[in-house]
Amino acid sequence: MDKSSNVVWHAHQVSHADRVQQTGQKPCILWFTGLSGSGKSTLANALEGELFRAGHHSYLLDGDNVRHGLNKDLGFSEADRVENIRRIGEVAKLFVDSGLIVLTAFISPFRADRDLVRGLVGDGEFIEVYVKAPLDVCESRDPKGLYKKARSGEIKHFTGIDSPYEAPEKPEIVIDTGAEDLAACTSRLLDFLVERGAVTRSK
Ligand code: ADX
Repeated sequence: MDKSSNVVWHAHQVSHADRVQQTGQKPCILWFTGLSGSGKSTLANALEGELFRAGHHSYLLDGDNVRHGLNKDLGFSEADRVENIRRIGEVAKLFVDSGLIVLTAFISPFRADRDLVRGLVGDGEFIEVYVKAPLDVCESRDPKGLYKKARSGEIKHFTGIDSPYEAPEKPEIVIDTGAEDLAACTSRLLDFLVERGAVTRSK
């Protein structure tokens, strides 16, 4: 049985619509997915800087940071990765409810988990950003030296080496960080979000 079956949802005085009206922005989740070293965190970080300077209210949830706190009890087995994304999805949903533009940077290797998060928020509120870079490019960058450790067997279940990555089938946007530099990738993403009406250049 569900452990929380005797819990009743409490309606709050301040509604989502009130919060949206107060912030004057369209809350959503910008879900960055891709291999380790593909540039998710770097790109999400640069984009958040642009949004902040334009007067938007946002928050960036990042795999390495969240795994130091909320998810520090989780490792990299399949079950732990599923739980990692489930929790992040729920946190992101709350942040969207609070009126924020949420950016998330997690490998999130499994399609089903990303689709589950998509289903947690309203239509058009989940924007999947596939940060695409070939494995050999990510491996040659190896910013944390983890691919080297994975190849030598020191780290097990490393995504792309001995753990799978399921590429998005219909992401809202694909950013190829192997083909364009950071400034070009950031500005392409920002243009896309402005065109979609998700954000404005200034608020
Ligand atoms: S996810 O697969 O559960 O979405 P998440 O994005 O939170 O992963 O964490 C990935 C980060 O953890 C990587 O960028 C890397 O720094 C580190 N890491 C440590 N071990 C592994 C591993 N076995 N596979 C992938 N990333 C790992």
